[in-house]
Amino acid sequence: MPPVYLTSTYVQSTPGGHKGYEYSRTHNPTRTALEKSLASIEDGTTGLCFGSGMAAIDAVLKLLEPGDEVISTNDLYGGSYRLFTKVFAHYGIRFHFVDMQNPEAVAEKINNKTKLIWVETPTNPMLNIVDIQAIHKLTEEKEILLAVDNTFASPYLQQPLTLGADIVMHSATKYLGGHSDVVLGALVVRDEQLADRLAFIQNASGAVCGPMDAYLVLRGIKTLHVRMQRHCENGKDVATFLANHPNVKKVYWPGFEDHPNHNIAKTQMKDFGGMLSFVPVDDSLQAATKIVENLKVFTLAESLGGVESLAGHPASMTHASIPKEEREKSGVVDGLIRLSVGIEDIDDLITDLQQAIG
Ligand SMILES: Cc1ncc(COP(=O)(O)O)c(C=O)c1O
Repeated sequence: MPPVYLTSTYVQSTPGGHKGYEYSRTHNPTRTALEKSLASIEDGTTGLCFGSGMAAIDAVLKLLEPGDEVISTNDLYGGSYRLFTKVFAHYGIRFHFVDMQNPEAVAEKINNKTKLIWVETPTNPMLNIVDIQAIHKLTEEKEILLAVDNTFASPYLQQPLTLGADIVMHSATKYLGGHSDVVLGALVVRDEQLADRLAFIQNASGAVCGPMDAYLVLRGIKTLHVRMQRHCENGKDVATFLANHPNVKKVYWPGFEDHPNHNIAKTQMKDFGGMLSFVPVDDSLQAATKIVENLKVFTLAESLGGVESLAGHPASMTHASIPKEEREKSGVVDGLIRLSVGIEDIDDLITDLQQAIG
């Protein structure tokens, strides 16, 4: 097992004479082991770990300068939206949010100030799929970085660097950790210069993860493939159950053949994952609240990607920082319920949903 180096500083034999480790904000052997593991499973060359997914995104945004422009998706994770609009917009960076399912909408916003395209796919919580290769074509031969938040898919289902992305980002808090016991973020890249710039920011800003957290994610990665297989199997069964339920109006899951981007999901992902969202026939806030309160096996909580099933109410929880008008445009209505389907016995999950929905 990789040792957990609970070490802040390292012996030097002579000033500057060390064995690769000087101070743990810059490097720590347990973090290095995780960074190498992540680079390997994302088919990249350099991994960089941070104290949270948001800290990893923050590091990418620090590559930019005032006047630069960013294009992102209009149903972005609420925390990313908040970081973009409430923090980096104040530093003179301009953000455009478009329907990224349509690459044309992205192309329309590209100009010579565009420096970053921030993709999330599948999106949180609408499970829209963005065609990474199509967006990559728009950035080719331009000085535009393409970053993909791969949190929902995990590297088991999708490897954005192989599809043309320059940067892949993870909230390792989710599927990579897998047990809801750690908060950690990661970036993986292939380009050496980009890796150096990001490593500089990682050290200069100092938002690194601790060694124990790195160890927990390393342990999670060992079972990622087995857990993902079960998340996908259970996700499919829950999506099918909900789609056939008379009290359910709409289910969002990319595995359905009539999902608008099913074919893209099929080509860029290995399977369809364990995340889905649904709206009950009574799509009022009260009805959705009652369903999530009634659940017994699914736990009402923020976050996703752990072995235990979770239910969330995006409008009041994860996406509360997006104005109602904005979020409703992308489908995040008051009645929407998001499920992170865990790896429990599928009969227990279906029975729980049945009793909660009625
Ligand atoms: C898609 C997505 N990206 C980024 C994040 C932020 O990650 P963290 O909570 O580890 O900071 C989350 C967290 O929910 C997420 O769902």
